[in-house]
Amino acid sequence: MGDLNAKADYVFKVVLIGDSAVGKSQLLARFAKNEFNVDSKATIGVEFQTKSLLIDGKMVKAQIWDTAGQERYRAVTSAYYRGAVGAMLVYDMTKRQSFDHMTRWLEELRGHADKNIVIMLIGNKCDLETLRAVPVEDAKEFAEREKLYFMETSARESTNVETAFLTALTEIY
Ligand code: GTP
Ligand code: MG
Repeated sequence: MGDLNAKADYVFKVVLIGDSAVGKSQLLARFAKNEFNVDSKATIGVEFQTKSLLIDGKMVKAQIWDTAGQERYRAVTSAYYRGAVGAMLVYDMTKRQSFDHMTRWLEELRGHADKNIVIMLIGNKCDLETLRAVPVEDAKEFAEREKLYFMETSARESTNVETAFLTALTEIY
């Protein structure tokens, strides 16, 4: 396959944020490796994966950073956000609290990131429709008010995961 790295026209750093257990790491695993783990362990510190894709004939290398939702496991915040051009703000659509916390995550993000950062609000676990606790209208309203893109995804069933990242990356590009 050769070294995709050498061929990248652009490198875009994208950060994942949101409460613990909303599925940030599994969204990343699905997008970068097409994998999903039901027994995913809580992230400690910071991890990242890269994926190269062709957008408009240019090789875009997405460098996606994933950190702990749990405060005690989080690494230095400013370093995490430094240089990020995109952010995925993730909640679990079966957990109202994870959606209510989006305001705080957005505040932290806006406090640390570049003001032109592209932000995508993601309601994950849409495979659990029967357990839905966040109406799609609430999320849409919040996204509109805060000028965010919005999508519901399922890392488990692979629904909209690629689309969500691609939409964000295309918007950045
Ligand atoms: P922290 O690292 O602690 O911040 O959590 P996280 O947001 O990275 O959550 P993680 O990806 O580890 O997923 C938490 C749990 O939710 C795991 O048991 C996953 O298998 C499960 N999960 C993640 N995505 C989905 C999904 O789309 N649908 C369902 N049903 N479960 C999911
Ligand atoms: Mg994680």
